[in-house]
Amino acid sequence: MDKLQIVGGKRLNGDIPISGAKNAALPILCAGLLTGGDLALSNVPRLHDVRTMLRLLEQTGLKVTQDDENVVLNGAAINTLVAPYELVKTMRASILVLGPMLARFGEAKVSLPGGCAIGSRPVDQHIKGLRAMGADITIEGGYIHAKAARLKGARIYTDMITVTGTENLLMAATLADGETVLENAAREPEVTDLANMLVAMGAKIDGIGTDRLVIQGVDSLHGTEHAVISDRIEAATFLCAVAATGGDIRITRTRTDIFDVAIDKLREMGVLLTVEGDSIRARMDGRPHPVSFRTTEYPGFPTDMQAQFMAVNTIASGPSRVTETIFENRFMHVQELNRLGAQISTEGNTAFIKGIDRLVGAPVMATDLRASASLVIAGLAAEGTTLVDRIYHLDRGYDRMEAKLSAVGADIIRIK
Ligand code: EPZ
Repeated sequence: MDKLQIVGGKRLNGDIPISGAKNAALPILCAGLLTGGDLALSNVPRLHDVRTMLRLLEQTGLKVTQDDENVVLNGAAINTLVAPYELVKTMRASILVLGPMLARFGEAKVSLPGGCAIGSRPVDQHIKGLRAMGADITIEGGYIHAKAARLKGARIYTDMITVTGTENLLMAATLADGETVLENAAREPEVTDLANMLVAMGAKIDGIGTDRLVIQGVDSLHGTEHAVISDRIEAATFLCAVAATGGDIRITRTRTDIFDVAIDKLREMGVLLTVEGDSIRARMDGRPHPVSFRTTEYPGFPTDMQAQFMAVNTIASGPSRVTETIFENRFMHVQELNRLGAQISTEGNTAFIKGIDRLVGAPVMATDLRASASLVIAGLAAEGTTLVDRIYHLDRGYDRMEAKLSAVGADIIRIK
């Protein structure tokens, strides 16, 4: 199992290019199931989860040709309507094949994703929505068996705001018969990126970017070209890194209009941020100020940035409080950060962080994707050497993080 060895205390200086967004790329790849035409994608991030999704799609018969960050999908010769457990169990986002497969072929057999480290993460809303559209869905043997001669438009109100739930139902609705209204829809920029691409494929969608999506079903969709939106979570992760270490970096190939809340909080921490086109320059000197926040759905504070900001709070000049409202178990980085000397206590879904003046390096273990990012940030700031184990979690969502960080002065190497 690979590890990252980090010798902390180095300021970061230089440019960091941001890759395409994992959470946009994954649903966008599944949209390849909706058409027999060529879906030509660019800015597709080189991530483990993307490779898993491409494998899952290829085993259905969908053609994949890939050249680095450019991927062309063609769904003309799909002959298997199954998403098998051995692939789905490694990546929950596999559930995103259900809607498009059912909408185009009238049938799908998708393994239930099972839980993951950060929470039970059921898919009941995905199933509720597809049933509302007339699908006959049974669950047996750990699989979702779905059938529908042709999905019918419906008005669907999800019990909570669900990102992949919205994406699954949105993709299904594009080929349903009639009008579908998704109330309480997720408004994350990655949902918007998918919706914009579906429109370019011939889908009829109103309300993009709002919590009410209205879709008029069409008989078929054609291919298109699309560049995946920049990853706002990766961008914020590197901005948290410089907030913790100090320095002067520029993150490039980013969007600056899709993570305002994080930018405000970074400024509150004392980071000097200046937006220059598709780049953000971040300068930081001295100790960060503490910032308290509670995670909520977009456009609120993103749960995917919670662990990274908490890592910076551990060395802030005062106490802070972090409340996690989206997932029931997303504090697994707390115990690991405390191994580095942080002083964090939790009560239910709230963590209380006492800012201390320095962390001390130690061996720690990654437990989930964003927790591993927070351990890297803490290691960059800690005195001495930190060894982060189980970084396969990190590789799921970050494209060569250690290369991007060492290019700006971090002392970080991957140990096989
Ligand atoms: C997406 O997960 C992201 N993944 C997650 O990013 C992100 O943390 C999450 O949205 C919240 O923003 C992708 O987009 C691939 P949800 P998703 O459905 O769609 C409950 C990362 O680090 N719920 O919005 O699975 C659920 O348990 C990952 O990149 C139901 O109860 O999240 C959770 O408590 C981690 N039933 C809440 O809703 C359902 O049918 C929000 O989940 C669906 C969801």
